[in-house]
Amino acid sequence: MTEQPLLPSDLPPLRVTSCGDNPKLRQKAAELAERLQVKTVSAADIPLPSLLLIYTEKGLQIQLKEKKIDGMLTVDFLSGAQTYRRLHGGGIKQALAKAVGVKPGIRPSVFDATAGLGGDAFCLACLGCRVIMNERSPILFVLLEDGLQRAYDNPELNILLADRLTLQTGDSRSILTASHSGTDTIYMDPMYPHRQKSALNKQQMRIIRILVGDDMDAEELLQTSLQKAGKRVVVKRPKGAEHLSNLSPSHCITMKNSRYDVYMINR
Ligand SMILES: C[S@@+](CC[C@H](N)C(=O)[O-])C[C@H]1O[C@@H](n2cnc3c(N)ncnc32)[C@H](O)[C@@H]1O
Repeated sequence: MTEQPLLPSDLPPLRVTSCGDNPKLRQKAAELAERLQVKTVSAADIPLPSLLLIYTEKGLQIQLKEKKIDGMLTVDFLSGAQTYRRLHGGGIKQALAKAVGVKPGIRPSVFDATAGLGGDAFCLACLGCRVIMNERSPILFVLLEDGLQRAYDNPELNILLADRLTLQTGDSRSILTASHSGTDTIYMDPMYPHRQKSALNKQQMRIIRILVGDDMDAEELLQTSLQKAGKRVVVKRPKGAEHLSNLSPSHCITMKNSRYDVYMINR
């Protein structure tokens, strides 16, 4: 199994800081820096170019400032976009829900092998599926951890999620290979090398791509998933893209800019 590097070597060194004078945020920044084995910097002392994890009053953010890009990412399950999707996204009739096998009275368990910023996993957990989201990028993992904690701290989301959304880190290929029993559905939304459109906005996608690369091992992940899923594997692909591994799915669910390739498991 070829391992992807956890952080591309051409990025500025990762540093951790906090916003303002809040001692709790400063303490959190120090603990995170220790966990990740990186240095803290004071907000007044930020080098350029920089790759910074910043604790703010609104949560943890990653900020990348270099010649070509100046942007930030955060995981916010309480954002306007997530709330709109939750309330007006079509419920169990939306394409993602159908693709993973949600039906009236049926809520499959889901292993989201490519969690990213967790939007798809969150959507499925809100619909009632028990979802494990797994992310290998250490930076996206700590953002997810922070976003998930804030979601569980929110009384409305806490009731809605009912402990159904959990988070793991590691390479999904190894985690699935080592696992015994099949989750009903394994869901994959790997980076696509020439992806044009995505549920994430352009800037978010650009930063994620810089942080995690192109997921060139997605074919291997599909092969492992097909061996381990209990009922189906779902792969999200951009519109017009070839099937992953050139493997014809059992059926496709097509949307405006993308589609879900669904592989039913018959063992
Ligand atoms: C396009 S993003 C997923 C977006 C996600 N569906 C969302 O709603 O935010 C792809 C993510 O999958 C992760 N990934 C790809 N292959 C992986 C693997 N084998 N194990 C764990 N994470 C993986 C990448 O690090 C990246 O963060």
